[in-house]
Amino acid sequence: MNILLVGSGGREHALAWKIAQSPLLRRLVIAPGNPGMAAHGELAAMKVTDVPALVALAQEIAADLVVIGPESAVEAGLADALAAAGVPCFGPSRAAGQLESSKAFTKAFCARHGLPTGAYVVCDTAEAAKAALDGFQPPYVIKADGLAAGKGVTIAQTRAEAEAAIDDTLGGRFGAAGARVVIEEFLEGEIGSLFALCDGTHAIVFGHAQDHKRAYDGEQGPNTGGMGTYSPAPLFTDELVEQVRARLAAPAFAAIAQEGSPYRGALFVEFMATAEGPKLVEFNVRFGDPECQVLMLRLESDLLPYLVACATGTLADLPPPVWRDESAVCVVLAAEGYPDKPVTGAAITGAEGPFGEGAQVFHAGTTRDAEGVLRASGGRVLNVCARGNGLVEARERAYAALSQITLPGGFYRRDIGWRALARQD
Ligand code: GLY
Repeated sequence: MNILLVGSGGREHALAWKIAQSPLLRRLVIAPGNPGMAAHGELAAMKVTDVPALVALAQEIAADLVVIGPESAVEAGLADALAAAGVPCFGPSRAAGQLESSKAFTKAFCARHGLPTGAYVVCDTAEAAKAALDGFQPPYVIKADGLAAGKGVTIAQTRAEAEAAIDDTLGGRFGAAGARVVIEEFLEGEIGSLFALCDGTHAIVFGHAQDHKRAYDGEQGPNTGGMGTYSPAPLFTDELVEQVRARLAAPAFAAIAQEGSPYRGALFVEFMATAEGPKLVEFNVRFGDPECQVLMLRLESDLLPYLVACATGTLADLPPPVWRDESAVCVVLAAEGYPDKPVTGAAITGAEGPFGEGAQVFHAGTTRDAEGVLRASGGRVLNVCARGNGLVEARERAYAALSQITLPGGFYRRDIGWRALARQD
């Protein structure tokens, strides 16, 4: 098969690494990819939102499937344009993508269809938003309505911080994504990331993980796109997985189809396991980053048939995916200043390894300069991952690999997996 993979981050590197192992693969083209992905396929310089160019590339390589990595390409309408061109696509339409591209849409969708989630209000003026805080208790959850790369969320401990976040968001910090602000009830509990695939009608659960959203150890610092993940997490009992599937994923797929936009691709259900059961925190219309990295490390089955089946409506024909019994951990090496003002350009050493048993490094924000030096080009720079016989071994292997890498000014969390380790004590 000829595959066009769209994206350039750690999620897409992990997908490329796994797709490249498929016996079904003939040619993998990645647009635009990154230096780490060059080992798995051909890179095509192109913006992930340049829909006409991506459709033309898919046609030029006679792609049997286009795999959309990032939400920005979904929002740009890539799946819709590929459908019009007759090219099979893993990734939802722009309309279905509103489940991520508008938090206000999603909250109203949950209300329309009875999906459990926290109370909320949507405001487009700072005055109204500040007045609406009266209806909530601290900590206050303030979100930009649109796509903000995971950075548009503030958990404010005080009213003053909440008001500052409202001013920031509506004042243009996230551009058009912050034209409206969503204030949400803070949900108490443990957070989890569950993934489901859907082919328009049939859906399956496709793995789960736990992420660490705050920038610094001990859940301190600003919210980020994710600083590290692990899978499996003890939070995910069979009972909880079934509850999240039955109360959130399955009704979302049924409802979005009923509203005229059948879902084809991966749905990332970020939920809070509350005392009243799982409640939706957010839907994302793609694999999580860096959740995807640990899922791909644990996926024993060939990924490609599942991606193709989502695009062709044949998911029901496949056996359930097989997951390795091992644990996987991902630690994000971030650039100085991430998430607010990441410093790019620092030279990275040691990223090529060799690393110890079970370790795997995915590139997230890297570029190679004219002299061939690998440099940081984004906030999250490398995803240093490992598999191991249990979480403790996987962590040791990931942190051992990290110790071989240098990024001046870079930082990473040293407590990835702390919730699971605390349960083991
Ligand atoms: N790790 C969270 C996200 O992908 O948005």
